[in-house]
Amino acid sequence: MIYDGLEGLIDGSIRKASHVDVAGIIHEGGTRLRSSRSERFFELEYRQKAYDNLQKFGIDKLVILGGDGSFRALKQFYNDFGVGFVGIPATIDNDIFGTDYCLGVDTALNMIRFATDAVRDTSASFKRGCVIETMGRHCGYLALISAITCGAEACIIPELDYDLDSLGKKLKKQLSEGRKYIVVIAAEGSRKTKKLVKWLENDVGIETRATILGHIQRGGNPTVYDRLMATEFVIHAIDKLIKSESKDGLVVVYEDSKFKFASIDYVNSQKFTIKKEFLDLASRMAR
Ligand code: F6P
Repeated sequence: MIYDGLEGLIDGSIRKASHVDVAGIIHEGGTRLRSSRSERFFELEYRQKAYDNLQKFGIDKLVILGGDGSFRALKQFYNDFGVGFVGIPATIDNDIFGTDYCLGVDTALNMIRFATDAVRDTSASFKRGCVIETMGRHCGYLALISAITCGAEACIIPELDYDLDSLGKKLKKQLSEGRKYIVVIAAEGSRKTKKLVKWLENDVGIETRATILGHIQRGGNPTVYDRLMATEFVIHAIDKLIKSESKDGLVVVYEDSKFKFASIDYVNSQKFTIKKEFLDLASRMAR
């Protein structure tokens, strides 16, 4: 087990795993192994230290859980030293090319659903609007799926053009017909939260509050779906490492309801795009 992600690889925070390390943790959020955002790993000197640590512990293959930053770093490490690995996409942003699902997304979406349902309650009680900002970095996936599944009135994400004039007209009409609240879900990547609050107050004419959900989306008990997906991702990764002689750089991906392996070059080759069906659904909430 390597603690603290890439930083732990550099600093040699490595220990043999046993069943004790994984007993009784299935319900915990976050990661027992901890994580890090490592600047040092992008310098060859520190990657060399990391490689020396692996040599010291007799480790010649790795399972990597992470997002696109980890995958880019590991690709570099693979180019430098040829250490084979299998990556498992794990980021609430769900923004890794080649896979429809990244671990943690369902848990984050359920957190957002819980929070949105609660904020809608109080908004309806006070006849207010609310702008709920989700995480996702540059990707609008969390906001889009949340807007659909929470029944939001509007959804603003970086991937979609929006038209506040026509949205405003629609919402004003609904308010005049008795609507008691408005829920707008905005992705952090759109950077429009403040603007949307002003628009709701000044143009649509409803008192509005913003709720920035923040890191609550990255914790909490994993959902049943995430537990099941984690089990399947990990089994695929471990089986591949045990059975395969080769030292490839691979990633387990979940595409069209099937687990497959993709090369790290393929996964890193393009930017993730949200499926057209979902974008079409959300575009109705952006104009
Ligand atoms: O990549 C996951 C993520 O939670 C993004 O959605 C968000 O923009 C970022 O990390 C926040 O990073 P930090 O926890 O370093 O502030």
